[in-house]
Amino acid sequence: MLQCDIWWECTVNKHEFGIRMSDGRNPPVFLAPLAGITDLPFRNLVQSFGAGLVVSEMIASQEMVQARPSARARAALGLNDRGTAVQIAGRDAYWMAECAKLCADQGAAMIDINMGCPAKKVTNGYSGSALMRDLDHALSLIEAVVAAVDVPVTLKTRLGWDDDCLNAPDLARRAEDAGIAHITIHGRTRCQFYKGAADWAAIRAVKDAVSIPVYANGDIVDAATARRALTLSGADGVMVGRGAQGRPWTLALIAADLFGAPRPEIPTGSALIDMIIGHYQAMISFYGRSLGAKCARKHLGWYLDDWPGAQPLRRAILTEPEPDNVIRLLRTLPDTVELAAA
Ligand SMILES: Cc1cc2nc3c(=O)[nH]c(=O)nc-3n(C[C@H](O)[C@H](O)[C@H](O)COP(=O)(O)O)c2cc1C
Repeated sequence: MLQCDIWWECTVNKHEFGIRMSDGRNPPVFLAPLAGITDLPFRNLVQSFGAGLVVSEMIASQEMVQARPSARARAALGLNDRGTAVQIAGRDAYWMAECAKLCADQGAAMIDINMGCPAKKVTNGYSGSALMRDLDHALSLIEAVVAAVDVPVTLKTRLGWDDDCLNAPDLARRAEDAGIAHITIHGRTRCQFYKGAADWAAIRAVKDAVSIPVYANGDIVDAATARRALTLSGADGVMVGRGAQGRPWTLALIAADLFGAPRPEIPTGSALIDMIIGHYQAMISFYGRSLGAKCARKHLGWYLDDWPGAQPLRRAILTEPEPDNVIRLLRTLPDTVELAAA
């Protein structure tokens, strides 16, 4: 059983949410922010099985404060009382601080700063992982956000910009001095995007550089990969993104196997179909019928990927525009299925 005392002391002991380990603390197994995926319906589903913390999709700080409806709706509708960190992105200290205040006022349990997004439209605006190329500027954003809110402020970043600039330990050290509560490191550089394998061992240099908790991220999909990532990195916990797609219980299983949290009941057969329909209906209510049906398709695809006997129905389910018909089709799936536990 792994221990995570420091994590708890430093980070969220004022906040009570999520599942508990046998000693009453939350397990350090977090849901990663995934734009277009970790919306409120998905976060609720993951939390219903158990997660130490869930993080919202990235919010563009200036757009949020200036109230573009799409950005604000995502955050305003996205919070519940079970503990959601809201992730903000940007390159201007004023907008970052204002956005952090707004999210904290709306109930964000933490504010997470994005310094890892590799997308060109983000880095060309000198946000996301581009901030790793200008640590002084990155620090000015961190200081502004920390000063703006009372909730913990955390940082999610990568190993560095590229193999010649592996400066995550420097950034982490300075971020700790500026008041960051914990750091998550995706074990790739920006220039790797999502290629190759996450280098969990390289995260150890960050762990050695700071005394705040460090979370390992990248390619963790089950208890075995989580254990290996923790062993190689020395990290205090893990953050899981794509490993929860189609398997919203993944985090709870990792928390049970590695941290002594209660073991989740994983639905099979007709209970699994009910869960999927519940997720689908939650997306329809959250986004509305037309957009909800479109946004839900990727989740349905992930559920059906490993579903024996689903192939004849797959195309019909994923192309049907009318939600009632989708639900009818889902009810005709072979109900003897047990998706492999993550
Ligand atoms: C579709 C997609 C969207 C993502 N959106 C975000 C985001 O909004 N903020 C962020 O910090 N990282 C984002 N990421 C990166 C993930 O949080 C995570 O660091 C990465 O996927 C590696 O972890 P994993 O292998 O567990 O998925 C995204 C990744 C993907 C694939």
